[in-house]
Amino acid sequence: MIGSMVTFLAGVVARLNCSKLARRGSEMLQRLAERIDHSGQGRGRLHAGNGWGVPLRRGGRVSLVGAGPGEPGLLTLKGKLCLEEADVVVYDYLVNESLLTNCRPEADRIHVGKPGSYQRLSQEEINRLLIERAREGKVVVRLKGGDPFIFSRGGEEAEALAEAGIHFEVVPGVTSAIAVPSYAGIPLTHRDLASTVAFVTGNENLTKETSGIDWKAVAGMGTIVFLMGVSRLSLIVARLVEEGRDPETPVAVIQWGTLPRQKTVTGTLRDIRERVRGMRSPGIIVVGEVVRVRNRLRWFEEGMFVRETAATQTQRREAVLSKLIQPESA
Ligand SMILES: C[S@@+](CC[C@H](N)C(=O)[O-])C[C@H]1O[C@@H](n2cnc3c(N)ncnc32)[C@H](O)[C@@H]1O
Repeated sequence: MIGSMVTFLAGVVARLNCSKLARRGSEMLQRLAERIDHSGQGRGRLHAGNGWGVPLRRGGRVSLVGAGPGEPGLLTLKGKLCLEEADVVVYDYLVNESLLTNCRPEADRIHVGKPGSYQRLSQEEINRLLIERAREGKVVVRLKGGDPFIFSRGGEEAEALAEAGIHFEVVPGVTSAIAVPSYAGIPLTHRDLASTVAFVTGNENLTKETSGIDWKAVAGMGTIVFLMGVSRLSLIVARLVEEGRDPETPVAVIQWGTLPRQKTVTGTLRDIRERVRGMRSPGIIVVGEVVRVRNRLRWFEEGMFVRETAATQTQRREAVLSKLIQPESA
């Protein structure tokens, strides 16, 4: 914007007078305009529409934005900018609602994924909602947990938008498949332990006859990360062992990863089912030797970097205060 204004000024100066001085002034202004444009690109002057300074077209459009795995700080900068610009935000069950504080107060917030609630819309209804709002000229953000293109039907939504001729963009998010193991102190690859990783859905027909998953190939991967698999852990373990994975292979199940209530249970393919009794979704299952590294790297659960919540701060202050006001003899 400033760059083009300076370019315009340079043109005006050049046309006003053809003296040497005016020409030099015009050239200087032109160089200044180029530097402004260049700094806008090189230093990433972000717009929600385009990270390199060119906003998306005006009018209705949809941004498919990854909300990250739960911890609000793991939203991308571009995702935040999209939320700040949105007229409408359509979000899912696993999206941390505190992210909506980035929206303007008048933005419409539509929760479409609450399990068991009337607000739960079918995929077709969600597609229709996005298309209708964009056609009304609204800036729509479709906010999805983790990354929109990882086990999230983001691809289907993008296809529906493309087919309807709606302008859209995809803003990748930090997927739980990577972030949750990281917060449990498990590096998915390791030079000595694993050179391959597979992301696998547990939300499929897993039986031998009907599964669309190549279990032999999966069982042979260095590290295997299952999403949506907690309730089907027994079946997953059985299939891996059937395909030759050593029953002593380490396994971790991580629930509510990246959040203060994160819980991790570890074991082996042989005993993990007994160890995780009662654990529910959402959870990530990690299978592979890399799980052993956690013993040395469990940084998040040991609280090294956990920031105090307001409630914990109050509790701590109250504890200190009560010590101060207790009589000496007590
Ligand atoms: C429908 S998939 C969506 C995945 C998402 N698109 C992503 O990239 O993370 C939902 C599954 O993601 C996993 N998940 C998402 N957030 C999680 C979290 N904070 N802790 C553990 N698992 C999580 C669980 O396996 C859950 O069942």
